[in-house]
Amino acid sequence: MVSMDESWTLRNGLEIPHRSVLAAMTNKQSHDDGCLSDDEINFLIRRAKGGFGIITTAASHVQESGQGWTGEMGVWGDHHVPGLTRLADEIRRYRSKSFVQLFHGGMRSPSALTGQRAISASENFISDSEGSSRSMTLEEVNETITSFAKAAKRCEEAGFDGVELHGAHGYLIAQFLGSKTNRRMDEFGGDVLQRMTFLNKIIDAVRGMVSPTFSILVRLSPVSEDIGITLEDTLIVCESLLSKSIEGLHISCWDVFEEHKTGQTLTKEISQFIDNRIPIISTGSIWTGKDAQFLLEEGADAVGVARVSLPFPDWPISSASLEYCPAKPPFTPQELIDAELSPLFVDYMRRWKGFVTDGR
Ligand SMILES: Cc1cc2nc3c(=O)[nH]c(=O)nc-3n(C[C@H](O)[C@H](O)[C@H](O)COP(=O)(O)O)c2cc1C
Repeated sequence: MVSMDESWTLRNGLEIPHRSVLAAMTNKQSHDDGCLSDDEINFLIRRAKGGFGIITTAASHVQESGQGWTGEMGVWGDHHVPGLTRLADEIRRYRSKSFVQLFHGGMRSPSALTGQRAISASENFISDSEGSSRSMTLEEVNETITSFAKAAKRCEEAGFDGVELHGAHGYLIAQFLGSKTNRRMDEFGGDVLQRMTFLNKIIDAVRGMVSPTFSILVRLSPVSEDIGITLEDTLIVCESLLSKSIEGLHISCWDVFEEHKTGQTLTKEISQFIDNRIPIISTGSIWTGKDAQFLLEEGADAVGVARVSLPFPDWPISSASLEYCPAKPPFTPQELIDAELSPLFVDYMRRWKGFVTDGR
């Protein structure tokens, strides 16, 4: 039986000291120009100190036009490198490996923020106020691929161990993967393998710009009805990703206990299919030591957590114990501030139903 406190390795042999992964969490604490703030750095360092095997930053936009919300971390310019370097240096003082999550919001980048009409794989309805996205020109698609690669290079220069490509949650990469949001007739659209072209080219471009030891993870939503991604599509995507130069997959399940219509969890479906050919991180609604052990037994190599790490930054230390049962939400603002969340981040967490005592 695998235990949370055992090390594991990515496909390139990078040793990860613990099975816990701090999943990417937007925290609104970056400056307006996308540079990291002391608050954001302190928040992440506190969790490295808590023993997470991997620390993933918040989703960070690779182009100004890809920003999804205010206070978002950026990796689109060289002015971000000093802050990134400080963060990577600080994480390295602990055992955790460091990853920046790279993303572009696509049709979910509000025009009020970017000053331009949102772009996507195709023209897609966004909302009554926002209207619809514009289909990206081939030139824009290629520029965006290059922006992902340049952003990854900045992360490597800053000293990070790798990047996670955010292909989940309906953002630009997922918009290309989805049959409903990608109706292109060129090489970037078509069947699921053709809709993967954007992701494949990003991986190739990143790999072409970083050294072979720099790790690339890919995060996916295995099923997303809104944009047209089925589990069958995801298995095809996973099979195809095995031949790419990536080190691991991260599946975002939101609730890892939920059974798919096949009667098995998504983690089990995917891990059985992958059959140890690449490491899998799975994330969604893990809270206790028993939960974490369940997920490892479903076939995940590592357990991603987001919300439980907010009040409990030392979660990894106890997570190997089946008796570990940390308190459930809601938490008082002070409890979260004591765990190195700034008042701004606490305020953001008030929007997550039932999480903060004086929130929604
Ligand atoms: C405050 C907050 C911000 C999040 N931001 C991101 C993000 O930037 N990128 C991402 O891929 N997922 C993001 N997520 C999703 C988490 O990574 C995770 O998949 C989800 O919260 C389920 O895990 P949990 O039940 O352990 O919280 C966010 C979740 C929370 C709670």
